[in-house]
Amino acid sequence: MTPYASFLKDAAMGMVVCADKNKNDSLDYCQQDLAAATENMLVEAKSLGIGSCWLGVYPNEERYLALNQYFKLPKGIVPMWMISFGYIDQEEVVKDKFDSSKVHYEKY
Ligand SMILES: Cc1cc2nc3c(=O)[nH]c(=O)nc-3n(C[C@H](O)[C@H](O)[C@H](O)COP(=O)(O)O)c2cc1C
Repeated sequence: MTPYASFLKDAAMGMVVCADKNKNDSLDYCQQDLAAATENMLVEAKSLGIGSCWLGVYPNEERYLALNQYFKLPKGIVPMWMISFGYIDQEEVVKDKFDSSKVHYEKY
């Protein structure tokens, strides 16, 4: 369903994060809400010693239609992305990606 999630088949758990258009018609707002919820899950997983990875689905039509079909999702339920959770089997390399030149003060 996505070429960038092959490791999901070996993960302890996978989650499909879905928008519910029956409750909120705006996918843009749903994405913001779900992104915040997802980030919280990733941070909590980390604090529990669990590895996780955000796996992009929407807006790739091929991917979200495949998930829709596989899970027989009801009308209005849109699979936005997936998250893999599991116990990591290799040492994590912490990357320092902070670039102060990308932070703007008072004006851009
Ligand atoms: C919207 C979004 C979609 C992503 N989709 C994938 C994906 O399909 N496959 C994957 O291995 N990682 C995916 N990632 C995870 C990123 O590749 C990366 O691991 C994560 O942002 C952490 O980056 P860092 O380890 O360089 O800090 C996605 C991340 C985001 C925010």
